[in-house]
Amino acid sequence: MVSQQSHRKDEHLSLAEHFYSDNTNNFSGVRLIPTSLPKYGIKDIDISTKLEQINFKVPFYINAITGGSEQSQKINARIANIAKQTGLAMSVGSQSIAINDPDQVPSFTVVRDINPEGIVMANIGANHNAADAQKAVDMLHADILEVHINPTQELVMPEGDREFHFIENIKDMIVNVSVPVIVKEVGFGMSQQTMTELANLGVKTVDVSGSGGTNFAKIENFRRPNKDMDYLSAWGLSTIESLIEAAPINLEMNVIASGGVKTPLDIAKCFALGADLVGMSGQVLHLLLSNHDDQDVIDQINDWIYGLKAIMVLTNSKTISDLKKADKIFDSELLNFQNQRNSG
Ligand code: FNR
Repeated sequence: MVSQQSHRKDEHLSLAEHFYSDNTNNFSGVRLIPTSLPKYGIKDIDISTKLEQINFKVPFYINAITGGSEQSQKINARIANIAKQTGLAMSVGSQSIAINDPDQVPSFTVVRDINPEGIVMANIGANHNAADAQKAVDMLHADILEVHINPTQELVMPEGDREFHFIENIKDMIVNVSVPVIVKEVGFGMSQQTMTELANLGVKTVDVSGSGGTNFAKIENFRRPNKDMDYLSAWGLSTIESLIEAAPINLEMNVIASGGVKTPLDIAKCFALGADLVGMSGQVLHLLLSNHDDQDVIDQINDWIYGLKAIMVLTNSKTISDLKKADKIFDSELLNFQNQRNSG
C-alpha cells in the first residue's frame, strides 16, 4: 500500500512538470550592461564561491525536489549521479516522511551512497523540532540543513498544516543543529520583514525561493477537491523582487536566490542583485523528466557553466564577487516595486 504521503510526493513531481510551462518569471525586467572590451578570457573566470565556510566549485546547485516514494528514490539517484559528475551541490526534498517511516529512508540515503564526497543538503519543515532536524542531517551525513517555511503551500494543501510554530523551532535549530542552517521558502519569496525577523533569530543564510517557477499554490490547488483556491496562483514575491527586498540586509546575511531560475542569464542576474548562491529545482526536474538519460542533463549543466562564464566575460567579472557589482538596469515595473518598497 502506498501511503498518502508517498502518493503526495509523486503528485508533486507530476504536477510540477504539468505546470512547468505555465510559469512566468520577471527575470527579463533586469538587464545587465555589457562591455565590448573584455578584460578576461573564459579560462580566467573563477566561478567558485563560499557560503558559511563551505566552498562551492559551481555557484548554482540542485535545490530540494524529492524523496519518500519509489519514483522519488529513482529521481534522487539520478540527481546524485548528475551532481557528482558536474560538481554541483544538491539538496533532497523534505525528510519528514523518512523520520516517520523508516521504510522511506533509502529514498534519501541513496544520494549519499552515490555521491559520498559531494555537498549534500538535508531538508526538513520548520514545523519540526531541532531533534528531528538533526536526525535529517545525520541520515545523510549532510553538510548543510535546509529548513523550509511554506505557509502558503500548507494552507492551500488539502491535508496541510493550519497552525505554524516556525519561530520557536528555527531558534532551536540554529542553536542545536550541528551544520549550517539555511531557512528557505518554497516558491513564494521573502519580504524584508521576514528576512529581518530571521536575522534577529540568528539565521545566517536564507533562500528567498521566489515565485515565477514551480508554483505550489497551483499544485496544491489542483489537489483540492473543488480546486477552489486558484485566486492565490499569483501569490508571493518573485525571486527578483525578493532580492530587491534583501538588498538592505544582505550585508548581515547570506542570500540564496531560487525560484524560476532556468538559464545562465537568470543565474548571473541573481548574482548581480546580490545573491551568494543560486538554486534550481523545477528546471532540473523538467530536464530529468523530459530527457532520456543523465548524460543529457550533465551536458546541459556543463553548457550552463560555460554560459555563466561567457556572461562574466561580457560584464568584465573575473569572480562571483565582481559579478555582484555588475551594472544593471530595471524595467519600469521593477523600478516601481523598488521605489514603493524603499520608501515604504
Ligand atoms: C519542491 N520544493 C521543495 N522545497 C523544500 O524545501 N522541500 C521540499 O520537500 C520540496 N519539494 C518540492 C517538490 C517538487 C516536485 C519541486 C519542483 C519543488 C521547492 C523547491 O526547492 C524550490 O524552493 C521551488 O520549487 C522554487 O524553485 P524552482 O522550482 O522554481 O526552481
